Amino acid sequence: MASFDTDAIAAKRVFEVPFSGIRKVFDKVNALVAEGRDVIHWQIGRSDFDTPAHIKAGAAESLERGDVHYAPSMGVPPLRKAIAARTEIDTGVEVQWDTQTIVMAGANEGILCAVMAFVNPGDEVIIPDPNWHHYKSIVSLAGGVAVEVATKEENDFALLAEDVEKVITPRTKIICITSPSNPTGTTVPESELAKLAELAKKHNLLVLSDEIYARIYHEGDCAPSIYSQPGMAERTIIINGFSKVFSMDGWRLGWTIASPELTRHLLRVRQYTTVCVNTFIQHGAAKGLTEDQGPIDEMLNAFTERSKVIYEGLRSIEGMTVAKPTGAFYAFPNVKNFGESSQEVADYLLGEHAIATIAGSVFGPAGEGYIRIAYSCSKEDCERGVERLASALEAKNKAGA
Ligand SMILES: Cc1ncc(COP(=O)(O)O)c(C=O)c1O
Repeated sequence: MASFDTDAIAAKRVFEVPFSGIRKVFDKVNALVAEGRDVIHWQIGRSDFDTPAHIKAGAAESLERGDVHYAPSMGVPPLRKAIAARTEIDTGVEVQWDTQTIVMAGANEGILCAVMAFVNPGDEVIIPDPNWHHYKSIVSLAGGVAVEVATKEENDFALLAEDVEKVITPRTKIICITSPSNPTGTTVPESELAKLAELAKKHNLLVLSDEIYARIYHEGDCAPSIYSQPGMAERTIIINGFSKVFSMDGWRLGWTIASPELTRHLLRVRQYTTVCVNTFIQHGAAKGLTEDQGPIDEMLNAFTERSKVIYEGLRSIEGMTVAKPTGAFYAFPNVKNFGESSQEVADYLLGEHAIATIAGSVFGPAGEGYIRIAYSCSKEDCERGVERLASALEAKNKAGA
C-alpha cells in the first residue's frame, strides 16, 4: 500500500534489536483467557500486588499541591536522600545523596544512560547468559558488542570470574551483573563477587550491577552487592528501582548509584533522554522508602513463601532438576527430559495445559533446555500450578514413551 519504504529509511540500529519473544506469549495467553481457559500465569515478570496505599496517597497529595512542573534532572531531594539512605543500609557503603544518586524513569533508563555514557561503538560489554534481554539490545543500540558468558545450573547460574576472564579483550569496557537474576532467580554468592571485583580492578573495567531484585532475597534482607567489595564503589554503577520491590512497574521509577565522577557522565546523557522523572510520583516514592514499611515487608515475605512452594514442588517432579531460587520471583527448571527444546515444552504447557511460562532460549543460548517460571501469582496458584505442571509433564513423557 505505502510507497514510502520505511525499512529503507530506518536506521541500521533498529534492525539490531528484536521484538521481544515474551510479548508473543502474552498474546497467546490473552487469547486463551478470552476463550475462558483457567490459565496459570507464570509468564509475567512483574509483581502481582498493588502499590502500597501510602505511596499512592503521597503521589496524589503531591499532585494536589501543584507539583506539576519539571523536577531537577537528578531527581527531587527528598527522594534522592531516601535512596542514598536505603543504599547505605543495603550495601554498608556511604552514599552522598547530592552527588551519587540520579532518579531514572525505571531501571531501564539507568541502564540506557550507563551504556550511552560509557560504551563506544565496538566496545564490548560482558553479560551473563541467560540474561534479561534488554542489556543486549541496549548495548546494540549504542553500537557496542554484547559478549555473553554462559552460566551453568550446577553453579546456580552464577557468573563466574574464571569464565569472564576468558573473554576479556582490550575492547572490554563493562561487566554486567544481575543478582538476583532474571530469568534464573538465583544469586551470585559474595565469594564470587569478590573474584569478579578483583578482575574488574585488574583489567580496569566498569561494573554495571543490576540490583533491582536485591531486596527480594529469600536468604536474608538483601542479596550481596559487588558495590560493597573493597575498591568497587569507584567503578560500579548500581541500577535499582521501584518496579519490583514496591510493585510500581507502571510508575516508571528507578535510580542509579555511582561515584560523583561516574554520575556526572550519566547525568550528561540523562539530560537528553527523559530530562527528569514526573515530579509528583517522585514524592510518592519517597514515602515508600521512608514511611510504613509494613506493606513492603508483607510483599517480600509472600515472595519468599511462594519460592518455597515452587522449589519443593518442582524438585518433586520426576525427571526435573532446578537450581534453588534464592531471589526475585523466578525459577528456572531444567526441562531437558521433557522435550526437543525449551520452546517446544513451553508451547506444549501453554497450548495443552494452559500453563504460561517462557522458553529459556528467549534469554540466551545457555537458557536452552530450561523454562522460566515467574511465580508472581498467589501461593494457591503456585500450588495449583506445580500440581498441573507435574501431571502435564508426566502425560507428555507417557505419550512419548
Ligand atoms: C533484571 C531486570 N532489570 C531491570 C528491569 C526493568 O526495571 P524497570 O521497570 O525499573 O525499568 C527488569 C524488568 O523486568 C529486570 O528483570
